[in-house]
Amino acid sequence: MPKWVVPALVLLGSLALVPPLLIARERSTTFREPKVHLIPDMDHQFKYKAQQENPLFADARAMRLPVENTVARGELKADSHLNMGVVNDEWATTFPFPITADVMARGKQRFDIYCSPCHGLDGRGNGTVAVRALARGESKWIPPLSFYDATVVGRAHGHIYNTIKNGIRNMPGYASQIETEDRWAIVAYVRALQRSQNATIEDVPQSMRSSMR
Ligand code: HEC
Repeated sequence: MPKWVVPALVLLGSLALVPPLLIARERSTTFREPKVHLIPDMDHQFKYKAQQENPLFADARAMRLPVENTVARGELKADSHLNMGVVNDEWATTFPFPITADVMARGKQRFDIYCSPCHGLDGRGNGTVAVRALARGESKWIPPLSFYDATVVGRAHGHIYNTIKNGIRNMPGYASQIETEDRWAIVAYVRALQRSQNATIEDVPQSMRSSMR
């Protein structure tokens, strides 16, 4: 083997380390100026970022406030029956739109998601959260009211709508998770649950009565 082979291999080996070291340095260092940008994209366009100053405006805020007295599309909550559950300054005793089988099905589905963890699928207040809180002996736990409690049975539709939207006493509001129409659908389903526990033979369609005991 000629004498130069070993030094040559050592030299090549060391040179091979240079590119990865350069890449590592490039990746781990920060630069004030943007790095070489072969294809300019929107990273470097002129723009204001949140909280920056913009001298164009008297108050120098880049983040503009909404124009006063304007309402975003679909955000005008002016229908007091639909949006607040109130008719003539009293809790509504009617629904703001017709309750169809589809609405009822939607109400059941939303109820099972949002209400049943505490109130239970049947509304008696034995949801998994409530059951677990009792099993753990949580001293601060307030059991959810049963929907068959005379208080709740006697509530107007609008009151229950408001309970879903804004919460009541120890129950949190669900306005941010449940849309307006869905809140009413849930009210309809709560009414159906209550009626189911207080039904007479008159509630059963004539054609089905004979099949009942
Ligand atoms: C985190 C548990 C929890 C969830 C989820 C929950 N509730 Fe409640 N709810 C309660 C508790 C607790 C009370 C009793 C509050 C009290 O007495 O301080 C209550 C009370 C009520 C009442 C009776 C209020 C009254 O005095 O008229 C209604 C009606 C009701 N809830 C409906 C609902 C509906 C509908 C949903 C689903 C959108 C829901 N709740 C979701 C815990 C919950």
